[in-house]
Amino acid sequence: FSDFLTDNYSRQHDYLRISVTERCNLRCLYCMPEEGVPLSPSRSVLTTPEIVLLSSLFVSQGVTKIRLTGGEPTVRKDIVPLMQQIGALRPHGLKELCLTTNGLSLHRKLEPMVEAGLTGVNLSLDTLDPWQFQIMTRRNGFSAVQKSIERIFELNRVGAGIKFKINCVVMRGMNDREIIPFVELAQHRDVEVRFIEYMPFDGNKWSKGKMFGYQEMLDVIRTKYPTVSQVQGHKSDTSKTYQVPGFVGKVGFITSMTHNFCGTCNRLRITSDGNLKVCLFGNEEVSLRDILRKVNNGEPIETEVLEAMKQVALDGSRHLAAADRPPLLAPNSRELLEVIR
Ligand code: GTP
Ligand code: 5AD
Ligand code: SF4
Repeated sequence: FSDFLTDNYSRQHDYLRISVTERCNLRCLYCMPEEGVPLSPSRSVLTTPEIVLLSSLFVSQGVTKIRLTGGEPTVRKDIVPLMQQIGALRPHGLKELCLTTNGLSLHRKLEPMVEAGLTGVNLSLDTLDPWQFQIMTRRNGFSAVQKSIERIFELNRVGAGIKFKINCVVMRGMNDREIIPFVELAQHRDVEVRFIEYMPFDGNKWSKGKMFGYQEMLDVIRTKYPTVSQVQGHKSDTSKTYQVPGFVGKVGFITSMTHNFCGTCNRLRITSDGNLKVCLFGNEEVSLRDILRKVNNGEPIETEVLEAMKQVALDGSRHLAAADRPPLLAPNSRELLEVIR
């Protein structure tokens, strides 16, 4: 394992999250304002060859898992060819290729993605009620998301082996009544339903009152399923995993607001305009895009990319050393939003 990917806290950053676009076809209340987010000029967004080159560099250094995120990654026109090229890194050490998506247009692209090597889908869905969906996302599309979910189960029935999670951000007074129905999605199906604590970003109208914490979610679940209990997750999970005895699937909690999980975080992040970050809350970023696009005088870009890596990895460690937990509000929330999604 490359030293460059290991920080002073012995965290091995073998999981790379790449945001492939800032654009999105929904406008979730907790994420974007109605008018959307200001977009970077298209020339500053990484091209497919650039993303593939960076992916292969990181895989050669020990990254085994790549997740494509956004915005909404499926709105990028060449998402399938991009996945095919990243998928081709499997013989070089890539073990998992995952996607975080809102599922709106996934059903149309899922099959070629699986052929390209897609191994995991985290699908964002905050309500099981079509009307409430329209309120929370400010768009129609519930049935399209349902179709994507059905496609995943169908493909898994014929052996596609997609690791499937549903992400549900819980907002008090909005969808907190749906905690039990969401848990019950895991009764007969192999899915991990993860409840996420609502986090504050610039302009997302967060208030403490609207946040619904992990403990309270568990209390709600225990009213119907008192035997729900914690099970072993994977070592670098940011979520806590639970199971109701007898249920096929699992339940998870992403407790970003009430319990930090920095110690086990193994993520590297590349924003859609090509900045590398190690910690969501770290300040240090290096533009890999600028390194790639610079006319370099015979110096292999690998050296500079790996140097950048060393710099941000150290920053991650400094952050861990400086505080027991990250500040709840990051200095630049817009950017935070992009790296977190
Ligand atoms: P897997 O572990 O592979 O399932 O991926 P993931 O949970 O990292 O991916 P996903 O894109 O589904 O992210 C779900 C949520 O996890 C995000 O919305 C964030 O709320 C949260 N999250 C992910 N990484 C971090 C992190 O480093 N810090 C914090 N605070 N939250 C994170
Ligand atoms: N708080 C918590 N989770 C959020 N997400 C987006 N914005 C927020 C927020 N303010 C979630 C999405 C998606 C995941 C990648 O990030 O619901 O599932
Ligand atoms: Fe789009 Fe995801 Fe943000 Fe919703 S949470 S607006 S689906 S990026």
